[in-house]
Amino acid sequence: MTVVTQTDELRAAVAGHGLPRVLVPTMGALHAGHLALVHRARELAGPAGTVVVSIFVNPIQFDRETDLAAYPRPLEADLTACREAGVDVVFAPDVAAMYDADRSVTVTESLLSRGLCGAARPGHFDGVCTVVLKLFLLSGCETAVFGDKDFQQLAVIRRMVRDLNVPVTLIGHPTVREADGLALSSRNVRLNAAQRADAPRLRQALVAARTAFHAGSRTPSELLETARAGIAASALARLDYLALVDAESLQTVARLERPALLATAVFYGEVRLIDHIRLDP
Ligand code: PAJ
Repeated sequence: MTVVTQTDELRAAVAGHGLPRVLVPTMGALHAGHLALVHRARELAGPAGTVVVSIFVNPIQFDRETDLAAYPRPLEADLTACREAGVDVVFAPDVAAMYDADRSVTVTESLLSRGLCGAARPGHFDGVCTVVLKLFLLSGCETAVFGDKDFQQLAVIRRMVRDLNVPVTLIGHPTVREADGLALSSRNVRLNAAQRADAPRLRQALVAARTAFHAGSRTPSELLETARAGIAASALARLDYLALVDAESLQTVARLERPALLATAVFYGEVRLIDHIRLDP
């Protein structure tokens, strides 16, 4: 496994391996969710192809300094996990390697990124699009794997790829969960014991709404209320948003006629967790 930290080294390192080239962009603190994407990338690349993992805590996608400062950065453990997962090239730049001090170009998606997590985190998806496009260009990979957990991120990146004719095929991977249903996240380690014990209620609240949906409930306000009640019953969780949106356009739906996503973000203290569930009429 080759580890590079400079942008000009990345192309050279990737060129030393075969096709196809598959990228898994991450911010590190790798857990089983990330590693599931890496295994998928390894399958897609095959034994002769190249799996590239980027590890970069991208400052321009953070809206809160405290969140950026508290973001875990266990690089040595991440490199070990990558080596064990059969990664060929790790790109782990520092901020100066990625951004000139006077950088002045940003990629903005202006429709899908506005609601949900974008409403609460201004500039977040501009930062994501900008860094992801840079990682595509720097690595030269023709395929990239992303988690469905961050469904809005994936939808925004899909739109960027479509609208800017970016020659990269995007592969989505299902959310990997703890045994109790909590979606794996690098932020979970920042939950205290009581918050961690409470956090599976996100998933439970969404599943309760899906159960009501399967039992015939088709009224958005009813489904939203079922999920809201499950989260509101917590003394520790503070709801950021709960929304029922079209699975494609991510716009709020008034009637359930097409596949939809029931999505939520919740704060435990400073830690913000997201989850969603799909409803297929
Ligand atoms: P990060 O949060 O590190 O996530 C990297 C990738 O892992 C994303 O595609 C995310 O959707 C996926 N992922 C995270 N938790 C997962 C889980 N429990 N199951 C399946 N996949 C999961 O997302 C980012 O980094 C950044 O925004 C990035 C795209 C790297 C740009 O900076």
